[in-house]
Amino acid sequence: MLEQTQEQQIISIPRIGDVAPEFKAVTTQGEINFPADYAGKWIILFSHPADFTPVCTSEFMTFANRESEFAALNCQLVGLSIDGLYSHIAWLRTIKDKIEFKGMKNIEVTFPLIEDISMKVAKKYGMIQPGESTTKAVRAVFFIDPKGIVRALIYYPLSMGRNFDELKRALIAMQTADAYGVATPADWQPGDDVIVPTAGSCGVAKDRMESKEEGVTCYDWFFCTKNLSLEQVMNPLKK
Ligand code: BEZ
Repeated sequence: MLEQTQEQQIISIPRIGDVAPEFKAVTTQGEINFPADYAGKWIILFSHPADFTPVCTSEFMTFANRESEFAALNCQLVGLSIDGLYSHIAWLRTIKDKIEFKGMKNIEVTFPLIEDISMKVAKKYGMIQPGESTTKAVRAVFFIDPKGIVRALIYYPLSMGRNFDELKRALIAMQTADAYGVATPADWQPGDDVIVPTAGSCGVAKDRMESKEEGVTCYDWFFCTKNLSLEQVMNPLKK
């Protein structure tokens, strides 16, 4: 394989549809072999700029507080920052012992937090964006599916805390698309109507316009929706 220059490593970002880059790392929950250790699960791999910083602290408390919601969606959370293990441990202990945020307190972070002082993982995932910082990771979020494929990525600048409702919505939308072969429209929320894939032949287009497909409403041949209940969305295996 061709060696990448340091600059190429810094700017290369895994794309949607790529196999998630592999790595072994030390974390606050022991060593991990990524993504193999989580095969069969969705993974949200997210970076944050630094330990002992306020926005990151609010994010970690929120993610930890909502970890069970992601676990219920078969999703493992894995965090990363360019700090060492002992800094991570001290920061997570401080969060548990001292910090209160939006009614959350005594929050224990039990998902792995990767130590990445060498920036090895941050570079593989394009988490260093030199225009923002050459020493801190930006707030990157990678959604990786149970087969180890990158399915979505979202990047935020250092100054902006993430919206965890949106991260959960994105995960559910991708799981719904996989389970039901549909797409989700603008501002979709679980329980809203979904989009039926555009007709791929004149015959299907005609059938749809003549309302021959049960439960499907077509406004024109290319714009058809159908109801997918909240229960169906949240229990895709029972379909
Ligand atoms: C923070 O998490 O508060 C933060 C980290 C780096 C730059 C700006 C804010």
